[in-house]
Amino acid sequence: MEGSGKIKKWNIGIIGAGLIADFHAKAIADIDNAQLIAVCDINKARADEMAAKHNCKSYNSYQELCQDKEIDIVTIATPSGLHMEPSIAAAETGKHVICEKPMEITTERVDAILEAHKKAGTRICTIFPSRFHKAFRATKDAVARGRLGRVTFASVIAPFWRNEEYYNDTWHGTWKLDGGGALMNQSIHTIDLLCAVMPKVESVQAYMDSLAHTQIEAEDTAVAALRFVDGTLGLIYGTTGSYPGNQKSFTITGTDGTVVLCDDMIVTWQFRNELPEDEQIRQNFAKTNGKSGIADPADISYQGHVDNFKGFIDCLESGEKFELEDDEGRKSVQLIRAIYQSAKNLKMVKL
Ligand SMILES: NC(=O)c1ccc[n+]([C@@H]2O[C@H](COP(=O)([O-])OP(=O)(O)OC[C@H]3O[C@@H](n4cnc5c(N)ncnc54)[C@H](O)[C@@H]3O)[C@@H](O)[C@H]2O)c1
Repeated sequence: MEGSGKIKKWNIGIIGAGLIADFHAKAIADIDNAQLIAVCDINKARADEMAAKHNCKSYNSYQELCQDKEIDIVTIATPSGLHMEPSIAAAETGKHVICEKPMEITTERVDAILEAHKKAGTRICTIFPSRFHKAFRATKDAVARGRLGRVTFASVIAPFWRNEEYYNDTWHGTWKLDGGGALMNQSIHTIDLLCAVMPKVESVQAYMDSLAHTQIEAEDTAVAALRFVDGTLGLIYGTTGSYPGNQKSFTITGTDGTVVLCDDMIVTWQFRNELPEDEQIRQNFAKTNGKSGIADPADISYQGHVDNFKGFIDCLESGEKFELEDDEGRKSVQLIRAIYQSAKNLKMVKL
């Protein structure tokens, strides 16, 4: 960490200079005690272009970037099945990591990353921007306070649209680099919210298929029935075959209340015991910022990345544990892998 004047700056390097890297750069620019000092991509022109734009160093390999002693934190923005190697290289060179979702595409690869950071004494968190939506924070709080009574059901509906061009690259929709399709890439944001408020999933039964994008290896549509360890039931529906894309929703309901989130909005907020702040909450979260990425991956706000990065850096400074640290990013990967296994074998899978 560089000490310049009063404020200590965390020096950050980005690995993978594609679409989401730009959001990382914007987020870092918004954080007072952080600065982007290097980027890396195997595509040299892309790395050079991004480095020129942000006036920082350009590297052509993640190994080289990790050897840069000035860097304190690395953000990982490579295709999902290429998160493990740079995350481990960063740990082995003493750098903390902020890793894009999914943390990796299998639990084995996630575990290898976690093990490397444990061994090195470095810290790692996953990126899930929706965790920082205020509407979700209010929901999580209501559930934690028991305001829904005995929770009986929770569901994720993630009806995205992606066009043919999106899948005409080298990695989207492939098992090796995307780790799956609609669930592992798109629905995972809302599946993570489910994992964050619900107990562990005990078992799943699922179907999946590629119905709209028949040329891709993995699923573009999947449905799964869930049973949580406390007996609560749930559902997941995720797709990239729903033109023109519709709001993602997360529903949680029980004996004393119901909350339905649509993207960053709250559309249902009803409890048996209404509190004075409830009407204000309904009003505060009645509107969306409209940037949900449901039809276009670039049409998202970078504010969630700011909150995610800043939260992790604050915890690096305070020594507290960050809410998306360690195996928190493993839960959604484990659940999605179980859904894939169930759908492939047409059998119930226990987690
Ligand atoms: N949090 C979000 O909202 C969000 C949104 C989009 C993508 N993502 C995630 O970000 C990651 C990247 O997605 P993207 O859309 O930016 O992909 P992209 O294809 O636009 O960019 C990936 C970049 O990584 C580079 N790359 C590949 N292998 C590399 C290596 N070994 N070393 C260095 N660079 C390498 C590629 O050349 C490319 O420039 C994925 O894991 C994806 O799931 C997250």
